[in-house]
Amino acid sequence: MGLGVFGSVLVLTLLFKHLASQQPNTDEFFVSEFLKKMDSTSSQPYNFSDSVCSWQGVLCDANKEHVVNLTLSGMQLSGTIPDNTIGKLTKLEFLDLSHNKITDLPSDFWSLSSLKNLNLSSNQISGSLTNNIGNFGLLESFDLSSNNFSEEIPEAFSSLLSLRILKLDHNRFAYNIPSGILKCQSLVSIDLSSNQLNGTLPEGFGAAFPKLRILNLSGNNMHGRVSDISRLKSIVNLNMSGNSFEGSIMSVFQGWLEVLDLSRNKFHGHIPQVQYNFSSYNWSHLVYLDLSENQLSGEIFQNLNEFLNLKHLNLAHNRFTIQKFPQIEMLLGLQYLNLSKTSLVGQIPSEISQLSNLNALDLSMNHLSGKVPSLRDIHLKVLDLSNNNLSGPIPQPVLKRLPRMEKYNFSYNNLTFCASEIKPDIMQTAFIGALNSCPIAVNPRLFKRRVTGHKGMKLALVLTFSMLCVFAGVLFVAFGCRKKTRMWEVKQGSCKEEQNISGPFSFQTDSTTWVADVKQATSVPVVIFEKPLLNITFADLLSATSNFDRGTLLAEGKFGPVYRGFLPGGIHVAVKVLVVGSTLTDEEAARELEFLGRIKHPNLVPLTGYCVAGDQRIAIYDYMENGNLQNLLYDLPLGVQSTDDWSTDTWEEADNNGIQNAGSEGLLTSWRFRHKIALGTARALAFLHHGCSPPIIHRAVKASSVYLDYDLEPRLSDFGLAKIFGSGLDDEIARGSPGYVPPEFCEPEFDTPTPKSDVYCFGVVLFELVTGKKPVGDDYPDDKDATLVSWVRGLVRKNQALRAIDPKIRDTGPDEQMEEALKIGYLCTAELPFKRPSTQQIVGLLKDIEPVVAS
Ligand SMILES: *[C@@H]1O[C@H](CO)[C@@H](O)[C@H](O)[C@H]1NC(C)=O
Ligand SMILES: *[C@@H]1O[C@H](CO)[C@@H](O)[C@H](O)[C@H]1NC(C)=O
Ligand SMILES: *[C@@H]1O[C@H](CO)[C@@H](O)[C@H](O)[C@H]1NC(C)=O
Ligand SMILES: *[C@@H]1O[C@H](CO)[C@@H](O)[C@H](O)[C@H]1NC(C)=O
Ligand SMILES: *[C@@H]1O[C@H](CO)[C@@H](O)[C@H](O)[C@H]1NC(C)=O
Ligand SMILES: *[C@@H]1O[C@H](CO)[C@@H](O)[C@H](O)[C@H]1NC(C)=O
Ligand SMILES: *[C@@H]1O[C@H](CO)[C@@H](O)[C@H](O)[C@H]1NC(C)=O
Ligand SMILES: *[C@@H]1O[C@H](CO)[C@@H](O)[C@H](O)[C@H]1NC(C)=O
Ligand SMILES: *[C@@H]1O[C@H](CO)[C@@H](O)[C@H](O)[C@H]1NC(C)=O
Ligand SMILES: *[C@@H]1O[C@H](CO)[C@@H](O)[C@H](O)[C@H]1NC(C)=O
Ligand SMILES: *[C@@H]1O[C@H](CO)[C@@H](O)[C@H](O)[C@H]1NC(C)=O
Ligand SMILES: *[C@@H]1O[C@H](CO)[C@@H](O)[C@H](O)[C@H]1NC(C)=O
Repeated sequence: MGLGVFGSVLVLTLLFKHLASQQPNTDEFFVSEFLKKMDSTSSQPYNFSDSVCSWQGVLCDANKEHVVNLTLSGMQLSGTIPDNTIGKLTKLEFLDLSHNKITDLPSDFWSLSSLKNLNLSSNQISGSLTNNIGNFGLLESFDLSSNNFSEEIPEAFSSLLSLRILKLDHNRFAYNIPSGILKCQSLVSIDLSSNQLNGTLPEGFGAAFPKLRILNLSGNNMHGRVSDISRLKSIVNLNMSGNSFEGSIMSVFQGWLEVLDLSRNKFHGHIPQVQYNFSSYNWSHLVYLDLSENQLSGEIFQNLNEFLNLKHLNLAHNRFTIQKFPQIEMLLGLQYLNLSKTSLVGQIPSEISQLSNLNALDLSMNHLSGKVPSLRDIHLKVLDLSNNNLSGPIPQPVLKRLPRMEKYNFSYNNLTFCASEIKPDIMQTAFIGALNSCPIAVNPRLFKRRVTGHKGMKLALVLTFSMLCVFAGVLFVAFGCRKKTRMWEVKQGSCKEEQNISGPFSFQTDSTTWVADVKQATSVPVVIFEKPLLNITFADLLSATSNFDRGTLLAEGKFGPVYRGFLPGGIHVAVKVLVVGSTLTDEEAARELEFLGRIKHPNLVPLTGYCVAGDQRIAIYDYMENGNLQNLLYDLPLGVQSTDDWSTDTWEEADNNGIQNAGSEGLLTSWRFRHKIALGTARALAFLHHGCSPPIIHRAVKASSVYLDYDLEPRLSDFGLAKIFGSGLDDEIARGSPGYVPPEFCEPEFDTPTPKSDVYCFGVVLFELVTGKKPVGDDYPDDKDATLVSWVRGLVRKNQALRAIDPKIRDTGPDEQMEEALKIGYLCTAELPFKRPSTQQIVGLLKDIEPVVAS
């Protein structure tokens, strides 16, 4: 600090001494004025006795009269550049003021009409860029990256005919890319990444830049169909990641691409078709390919082995069809491979162990089975095999390497390993981590060592035992339990030994604590309807959910928490703990659950089984792989949801290990699919109302109770649940969810829900499907105080139903069909229950407008 001040005093003293003898209005005068006023505290004071042409960073023309080159990068210049300083350097061609703290440009700056190269990157300049830049007609390289520029990019770029390099990234430029830029046909590199551009690409973009090699539009908000990018003849390096671009990837592929990053957009395309159309394409140019988080379909490239120079491959989170692991054994240079959520089935080929350069491998969220390959020759830093169906042991070479890895996750598999097989020192270093941050992957029954937490390491395998011990202890005191309590024993056991786990057990979520008051976990049966011989007990539920670990929590609704797990026998389930008090006796509840278990329909989520553990009634359902309608329609952030609204009682994937379900957005962008969901849901209701004896009134029809199974078939869940609670269900819950409350519920003489109240709720779901809008609190044009129902009904009455149709599906089917569906919804939401159609009639009406199957 002291030195700095001393330094600047020295500079200033020298400066003033020299200034006395300095001629005004010479380049020397302007530059020294600039340095003086910009309060440079540079550590290298200039020898101002010298001529300006000898100053560091200054270059003059042949006559030593004019400064042509000024490079003052990283000189700690700060504040506003004053007028009558560098703005007056009439012959200046090269100006580099990058890495300073400049906040404003002077008004005479724009008269520097000789500039060829301007670099102002990494400063703090804010405000808009005006059309004055049109004065820089000779500019070849323009770098304003990492500033705080905002508003539009000006049209006047049309005057910069010599521009080769344009870097405006990391600012806050907004709106459209101006069409004026299309005049800059000499451009070789454009980087507009990390701004707030939200328009479409200007018309003719692809044809405008015959020399463009690098294009980076990533991290904006741009949208629209991209149709002519492939006309960029020279493009080598293309990054459009993190926008909302649409269109077929067919329109993007281009002969010389080395780097292609289209991740996080809405590109679609059928990969086999792409492969077919580019059958003579030289795939060996590609070094980097990231198509993750789009809507690609078909099978993954079957010719990956032709991508000989590939180092980085990410195809994660697309809509590929179910397929075997692709052949990639030739990709010897591959360093990064991400095939997370690409519908892979079958085994991981052992050849993967030959890819010796691989350092990150993500195969999570597939249906891979069989053993984990040895991976002997790979020095992985990142390994994610979570959410598959892998079995057998984790191979020794992998186990040995875990301590040196940055990140790994084996969660949700059927892997086994024995504590005794693993050296204690590796156990101590490789299986520790922040408690409760992640679920334990492997069969926890086989893995009983207590380990201590170790901060600073992000390791994925976690034990929750010790935590639970403490909890159990605290709760016994709190509940004044007089039984002889034995702490949960956690000790190293041999692999095959069955453990005697004694309760009571208590578990905590963010919003509730629940206790299962059972003595012996192994003596409390879990009824699995289809597999009575499995002899599953509460102990298996504990192990399937890693002792109801928060990491396995799917959702928290008003009924209680929902967990995910694999039961013995490969049964993938969602475990719903009904913690709200029930007035039914154990026998009554069991009878009710047995009854519900017998109700089967292709459009109902099957109740797989149940368990009565102490006071707790636990309903066990088949796990629904593709989430529920509410999340899919509104792209809700996935993760554990905990709200007062039981309408968000969902089973979506939890996000607490950094791994999410696919952005399922895009799945619902066709009318045909939405119609299928409507029809399936109507069929489920018709079955409950007319096919069951006694008829079942659902009482909670809403978007979040409609799930999509593995085959994307709609399935209604939670039917009959309300009954399990008897009169213990409080009025508020019984009345339904906001936006789904039939008008008769508000009548003073209202007695009990009828099938017609389900019909009303179905009408709301149908409106949601067609309009893409939420039942309440969405933006209903022209009517701020509306609900979805009042808004759509108003439009139908005015014969303007078309205006309500979700723009996302508008062009994917005939308007008349969607309009007809809204009219059905209109009937369903009639004020008077008797005017509403029956669910059987609804099925008929919906079938009448069934879209023809497109090929
Ligand atoms: C500054 O330059 C003058 C003239 O070239 C020279 O005589 C003097 O020694 C230099 N001073 C320093 C500190 O380098
Ligand atoms: C200007 O100077 C910088 C570094 O001092 C140099 O890299 C650049 O080539 C020079 N430009 C011209 C036009 O001489
Ligand atoms: C501008 O300067 C920065 C920092 O000195 C440098 O990294 C960047 O490459 C320069 N921009 C251009 C277009 O040369
Ligand atoms: C950027 O500019 C805005 C106003 O336009 C201001 O609020 C913000 O603080 C600036 N950010 C930085 C990092 O200077
Ligand atoms: C783009 O952003 C601006 C403000 O940042 C907003 O006014 C405009 O409506 C947006 N345009 C689109 C198409 O989203
Ligand atoms: C923009 O993308 C290009 C090509 O992928 C890349 O070379 C460049 O570094 C990116 N720019 C930024 C600021 O990350
Ligand atoms: C593309 O841009 C994004 C965000 O700006 C960046 O994270 C990514 O690394 C870039 N891709 C390539 C290949 O450079
Ligand atoms: C791809 O090939 C098919 C069949 O040859 C053709 O109809 C289609 O136009 C091609 N698409 C593109 C983008 O080249
Ligand atoms: C494909 O491109 C690579 C270089 O990227 C080249 O070595 C190879 O010869 C090309 N193959 C064909 C068939 O043109
Ligand atoms: C794989 O890609 C998905 C989707 O983009 C991403 O969430 C995940 O973090 C990636 N995995 C790794 C190891 O980079
Ligand atoms: C898991 O894999 C086993 C074979 O290892 C198979 O029998 C079972 O059906 C699979 N389970 C699931 C849920 O895919
Ligand atoms: C889990 O693995 C065991 C043996 O390794 C096997 O018997 C069982 O079927 C597997 N379960 C699943 C869900 O694949």
